[in-house]
Amino acid sequence: MKIFGHRGAAGLVAENTLESITEALKYNVDGIEIDVHKCKSGELVVIHDETLQRTTNGVGKVSEFTWKELTKLRTPEGYRIPKLSQVLDLIDARCILNIELKGIGTALPVVELIENRIKDTKWDYDHFILSSFDHAQLFQIKYRTSSFKLGVLTEKKISSILKVAETLEAFSVHPLIYSLTEEEVALAKDKGYKVYPWTVNDPSKIESSKTWKVDGIITDLPNFA
Ligand code: G3P
Ligand code: CA
Repeated sequence: MKIFGHRGAAGLVAENTLESITEALKYNVDGIEIDVHKCKSGELVVIHDETLQRTTNGVGKVSEFTWKELTKLRTPEGYRIPKLSQVLDLIDARCILNIELKGIGTALPVVELIENRIKDTKWDYDHFILSSFDHAQLFQIKYRTSSFKLGVLTEKKISSILKVAETLEAFSVHPLIYSLTEEEVALAKDKGYKVYPWTVNDPSKIESSKTWKVDGIITDLPNFA
């Protein structure tokens, strides 16, 4: 069972920061999950919410700030919001990167950034999973290129998104752990999809994930899993 650090290692160090990703890498994670938005000047930035106030000392929408303005903000611990390109520099193809497309209009800029990046670095398409609750963004990628592994996110049962996964020719399905059953895991695996539930922090859920043979878990606590 693969271990993906959620937002880096969100249970240990401030989420979606380079410091949190560095923490996750200490535990030899198989992969890291991060959230991506686009800021006003066009850069792809790594932050979960549409707004700044929960995780930083900024107030307002990420999309209304330029990258230069965002560089002045800090988390309560004093960490910065990273750009996606900085995350790629840091990880340097040492593990899988599951990029969750959170912000609108992030699909094609993410594809372009990665296409440019893999030309002469250790990064390859196989290192990436592009995932989203916004299935329309995943379709934008599919219509543009077949090079990427696509992950379909859902808070509901896997069976509710199987049609989308099939049309997308998705690689993986990413259900909320509390919506998951053993039968749903078997159903998805039978159709050929990897099953990567989130956010699996509870030891009993880690155990049932193993028993049900999910392919990987997305966890805030990669030190435990
Ligand atoms: O990608 C899995 C998980 O991160 C989805 O939910 O709200 O933590 O981004 P959320
Ligand atoms: Ca996420």
